[in-house]
Amino acid sequence: MKIGIVGSINVDVMYEVDRAPKQGETIFGNKYNIKNGGKGANQAVILNSLEDDVVFFGAVGTDIFGLQARNNLITKGLKSQVESKDGNTGLAIIQLSNGDNEIIVFKGANDKINEEDIDMFFKKNPDLDIIVSQLEINLESIKYLIDKAYNLGIKVILNPAPAVSLNPDIVNKVTYLIPNETEAEAIFKTNDLEQIVKENKGKVIITIGKQGVMYLDGILPRILPSEKITVVDTTGAGDSFVAGFTSGIAQGLEVKEAIEKGIRVASITCQYLGAQTSYTKVKEVFNK
Ligand code: RIB
Repeated sequence: MKIGIVGSINVDVMYEVDRAPKQGETIFGNKYNIKNGGKGANQAVILNSLEDDVVFFGAVGTDIFGLQARNNLITKGLKSQVESKDGNTGLAIIQLSNGDNEIIVFKGANDKINEEDIDMFFKKNPDLDIIVSQLEINLESIKYLIDKAYNLGIKVILNPAPAVSLNPDIVNKVTYLIPNETEAEAIFKTNDLEQIVKENKGKVIITIGKQGVMYLDGILPRILPSEKITVVDTTGAGDSFVAGFTSGIAQGLEVKEAIEKGIRVASITCQYLGAQTSYTKVKEVFNK
């Protein structure tokens, strides 16, 4: 199956601290790294390393990071169509401490992706079977993308991250919605995850961090546990899960098996610093 990903490209500025500074306080960081990120690009890079047929659409700015981000996708061998938009490339500030992270995202060029870009993407790729997206690009364009895919009978996998409240019409048109707990709560206005999973009849699959992934098994919510690993960095764990799950669905696996594949891929990513760093390892593990 051919998969199209429309999503964000960011440069990730990642720094490690022992604890978050208090308001008005200056603290020393331990080290910092500049990595390639963006939920869209992360999902596309990892999916590509699983050897699925994937094509990515995204946008970068006219600043110095634009070139770096563009070159990164070429180096990683991803088939991609990248537009240039005036202004900044998307940038994420990622604070790592105690095995967890906090992220601030500046959307930059990602927010300038428009309906014409999406029309062009469909025109260049008339044979898509699955569309994957997230919520880091312009929200109106995501609605347009989902409408268009739905009308063309293309499956839609939406990772509604970062958390925003979503119009129910979008949820209806999506084949699989993959939020984490916070995102699920923002969309469905309840923290009763079991109820969300039951009421949405198999459409909603919720990632719940270290605990694993909740889905509907027959008529009952069930959690498939995450793997026991030594975590280096959880940045991009959700993205890798979405990539692995999508790969499973594209290869005709049942939902449970596709979730297991997603969990496997995410556990590899968490053992490396940065969201895309593990792409060669993923390739090695899955394509022996
Ligand atoms: O999901 C992880 C990603 O979120 C990071 O790569 C960062 O760019 C933000 O978009």
